[in-house]
Amino acid sequence: MKAAILGVGSAIPPKVVTNDDLSKIVDTNDEWIQARTGIRERRVTDYETSTSDLAIKAAEKALTAAKLDPAKLDLIIVGTTSSDYLFPSTACILQGKLGAANAAAFDVSAACAGFNFALTTAQQYIENSTYKNILVVGADTLTKYLDWTDRGTCILFGDAAGAAVLAASSDESGILASWLKAEGQLGNTLIMPGGGSRDPEQRKGRFITMDGKEVFKFAVRVLEESINAVLKKAKLEVKDIDLLIPHQANSRIVDHVTKKMRIPAEKVFLNLQKYGNTSAASIPLALDEALVAGRIKKGDIVVLSGFGAGLTCGANVIRW
Ligand code: ACO
Repeated sequence: MKAAILGVGSAIPPKVVTNDDLSKIVDTNDEWIQARTGIRERRVTDYETSTSDLAIKAAEKALTAAKLDPAKLDLIIVGTTSSDYLFPSTACILQGKLGAANAAAFDVSAACAGFNFALTTAQQYIENSTYKNILVVGADTLTKYLDWTDRGTCILFGDAAGAAVLAASSDESGILASWLKAEGQLGNTLIMPGGGSRDPEQRKGRFITMDGKEVFKFAVRVLEESINAVLKKAKLEVKDIDLLIPHQANSRIVDHVTKKMRIPAEKVFLNLQKYGNTSAASIPLALDEALVAGRIKKGDIVVLSGFGAGLTCGANVIRW
C-alpha cells in the first residue's frame, strides 16, 4: 500500500519585505543579496500572527483540495521549529481549531527538513495500515527569531506554511521512497541557543545564529546525497525526475548541485526569489505553487529534498 497526496495548500502573510527595505536597516544591498542567494523579497508576519495561524490556513486549503472532512483525519503531523509555545504542540492547536476530533497530533522538529521528516512519518502509518487519512504540515515564522542587525542571517528567512493531505493510494500514485539523515555533530553551526531548558531565560539570546559557510558546504553535500539515495531506494535514476523541488534556501546551492548532477533547470522548481527561506514551509509552499502553475502532471516523478538545522536532511520521491 502506498501513501498518496490528495490535496495541497499554503499560506503566506501579506507583508512583503524587499531587499531594498533591508538595506535601510543593515549594511547590505539588493545586488549582493540577489547574487549570493537569489532572494528578492520575503513575507514577514506581524507580532500577533503565530505559526499556527498560518498553518491553519494552509491546512484548510489542503483539506478543501482533498475534499476531506477534518473529522475524517486520523493524525496531524506538523514540522516546525517555531511552535506557538513549547507546549502544547502546534499540531494539537491545529487539531482543536480544525475540529479534527478523531485525530492524534504531534510536532516533528527537523527545521528546514521538517516537511520531509513529517511526510516520511505519515507514509509509515499509512503503509502499515495504522491510519487512513493524515494531514502533514510544514510551518515556520523564523523572522520572529532573527537578529535584524545581523546581515548574515536576517536577509535569508521568510514566514509561510504549507500542508498536504495523505491517504492510501488506489492506483500507482504515491510516495515511492523516502530517505532521512541527521548529522548532530554539526548542530552548533545553525542554532537558536536561548529559550530551551539549557537557557530558559534566554541569557544567550533569542536569535538564530549560523555559520553560513559551514551550512552552505553541508547543504551542497547532502542535497546531492539525498537525491541519489532516495532515487536508489525507488530504483530510479536522475533522468527519471520530472520535477525536483529542493529546499528553497539559496539558489547558488541548488544551481551548484543540479549542474553537477546534470538535472536541467526546467526540471527544478524555485520560488525562493519571492519568499526567501521559509524553513519547514519551503517545500510544501513550492509544491503548491508548482501544482497551481501546472508543472506537475499525473504520473510525474517528483523529488522533494530538504536540509536544515540539526543538522538534518531528507528526501521523498513521489509518483504523482
Ligand atoms: N550584504 C552585504 N555583504 C555581506 C552580507 C550581506 N547581507 N553578508 C555578508 N556580507 C559580506 C561579508 O562580510 C564578506 O565581506 P568580506 O569579504 O569583506 O569579509 C562577504 O560579503 C562574503 O561573505 P560570506 O559570508 O563569505 O558570503 P557567502 O558567499 O558565504 O554568503 C550566505 C553568505 C548567503 C549566508 C551563504 O553562506 C549561505 O547561503 N549559507 C547557507 C545558509 C543556509 O542555507 N541556511 C539555511 C539552512 S536551513 C535551516 O534549517 C534554517
